[in-house]
Amino acid sequence: NTVTKIAVVGGGGVGKSCITLKFLRNVFIEQYDPTIYESYRKSMLVDEEAAVLEILDTAGQEEYKSLMDRYFRNSHAFVCVISYDQRGSIGQIREYVKRIQRAKDEDDIVGLLVCNKCDIANEERAITDEEVKNLSLELNLNLVECSAKTGENINDLFLTLVRNVRKK
Ligand code: GTP
Ligand code: MG
Repeated sequence: NTVTKIAVVGGGGVGKSCITLKFLRNVFIEQYDPTIYESYRKSMLVDEEAAVLEILDTAGQEEYKSLMDRYFRNSHAFVCVISYDQRGSIGQIREYVKRIQRAKDEDDIVGLLVCNKCDIANEERAITDEEVKNLSLELNLNLVECSAKTGENINDLFLTLVRNVRKK
């Protein structure tokens, strides 16, 4: 049985670790503790077929980024995270996607544009739905809204990626 390697990428504080831990342990962490690098494994059934997921929770902060190209090359699928409370996360994800495409020497990556913190009320958002839709088209990645806080769409996004890797 082969391992599906999934890298979670995006700017600092967008919620990569919270998404990962909500999926793996069904917990939500309120405090912010910047990641250097974490890797986890989970065995599960996806459509009645066994799957082993290896999830790489990567660093969003600049000072920890140097090792990433090798991780990207070895990953099968990408959770590309932006956050409704961070305008800057849009520019950051553009850079990540370019870097992944370069590392894998392929434009057509298996990934999702994941907009986290959808529990935040509309009037408090720094990014509009329109911008998110346009970004999804620009990056050619399907869009998923999620919240690591409420759990909305967290399981689904990982299942979708496993299915998409199988199809490829
Ligand atoms: P780096 O490891 O530095 O790259 O950050 P990260 O992307 O892993 O962010 P992390 O998961 O540590 O979350 C950053 C902050 O956002 C924490 O205070 C979380 O509690 C908060 N947060 C994460 N997900 C959500 C969410 O869905 N909703 C809300 N309201 N807050 C969230
Ligand atoms: Mg983190």
